[in-house]
Amino acid sequence: MELSELKEKARSVAVKAHAPYSSFRVGSAILTKSGNVYVGCNVENTSYGLTTCAERNAIASAVATEGKIELEQVVVYTPTKKPASPCGVCRQVIYEFCESNVKIHCCCDSDEVLDTSIRQLLPEAFSLDEF
Ligand code: THU
Repeated sequence: MELSELKEKARSVAVKAHAPYSSFRVGSAILTKSGNVYVGCNVENTSYGLTTCAERNAIASAVATEGKIELEQVVVYTPTKKPASPCGVCRQVIYEFCESNVKIHCCCDSDEVLDTSIRQLLPEAFSLDEF
């Protein structure tokens, strides 16, 4: 799966975001180790704290389809001039499904990109495996 395809899928799903409160649309496309792609957009709620982010919605869709998943790549798209990186909650949720260092590509409407990884975004992550 080409990165350009993942970016296109993230861009397409951002259009569907339910973001009447922030007007900030986010689209995410994730690639699982099994080679499948899942998408998600942010879904806001009038009770603001119930909002779910694009990345977590994409992951929920992957789990609902495949059951046990392992992430390979996460793409985040925002229709902005600068790329936006996953929020802290999404970082922890991405970490839950990474056996190795998941690549994270954040893109936007300019050529600026943020190419990073879950280890970079969430060093010293909490995991019960440590205890
Ligand atoms: N949002 C995401 O979808 N992903 C992130 O990683 C950061 C924030 C959404 C949540 C909310 O609907 C909007 O962006 C503004 O915070």
